[in-house]
Amino acid sequence: MDPWVPSSVDLSRPSVARMYDYFLGGSHNFAVDRDAAKVIEKIYPGMAGAARANRSFLRRAVRYLCGQGIDQFLDLGSGIPTVGNVHEIAQNIIPTARVAYVDVEPVAVAHSVALLAGNDRAIAVQADLRDPDAVLNSPAVNNLLDFSRPVGVLLAAALHFVPDTDNPHTAVARYRDALAPGSHLAISHGSLEGIPQDSVTNGERVQAIYQRTDAQLVLRTKGDITRFFDGFDIVTPGVVLLPEWRPDSDDAYITAYVGVGRKP
Ligand SMILES: C[S@@+](CC[C@H](N)C(=O)[O-])C[C@H]1O[C@@H](n2cnc3c(N)ncnc32)[C@H](O)[C@@H]1O
Repeated sequence: MDPWVPSSVDLSRPSVARMYDYFLGGSHNFAVDRDAAKVIEKIYPGMAGAARANRSFLRRAVRYLCGQGIDQFLDLGSGIPTVGNVHEIAQNIIPTARVAYVDVEPVAVAHSVALLAGNDRAIAVQADLRDPDAVLNSPAVNNLLDFSRPVGVLLAAALHFVPDTDNPHTAVARYRDALAPGSHLAISHGSLEGIPQDSVTNGERVQAIYQRTDAQLVLRTKGDITRFFDGFDIVTPGVVLLPEWRPDSDDAYITAYVGVGRKP
């Protein structure tokens, strides 16, 4: 087995992290992931473009947050490292910026740890974002981030893998309550709202494929996505379709809503 494959990895089930790596053109995925990803691409040929567009939003959001003076980031559901990682974007703008990556998937964490060797301002931790206390009380996270100062919390294409039964809104509120005033929250989240019926049908077929993976895909309404920002002041232009959020490049049309909020 390749050295980057941790022993805890489950090779029998596709992983949303490794499928996303495949969509982005990465090489940290297995046949089981590629097979599921290829079925999705048949239904929704725009998936790779959507994944790239999501990374583009993440880049824009991190740059925006750096412009607001945010120099420490908690990236929840951070994924397998790829081109333009959060610490690279942030440390390019603020060399002293600190980034704690959190993901539940062992390949994502192992590869992040390997990539971050020698970077004393970025860490990767294996934890479940549905358990805010475990994340917030993690010694590694607390050694790196100072929660008495503003933090940028990133939840990019991650909350749509948390079903309502796991209370994602309560989890986000718990992170919010732990943050200092001036902290920011950035979210991107898949949706089926406002798209033609045939696309809705395809979206539901894509959701059905994700039922076979390590996380369900839950596509929420704009209203439900906006509720994640309760207790934050949502910055201009609000919760909007992903390509409409402070665009700086031509991104694929993607039915995901995104936003950034500031804790007053
Ligand atoms: C589509 S990827 C997004 C990666 C990155 N945030 C981005 O936007 O490019 C979703 C990531 O969320 C992670 N994830 C899903 N559920 C999670 C959970 N409960 N706790 C932590 N990470 C989770 C997956 O393992 C995967 O790496």
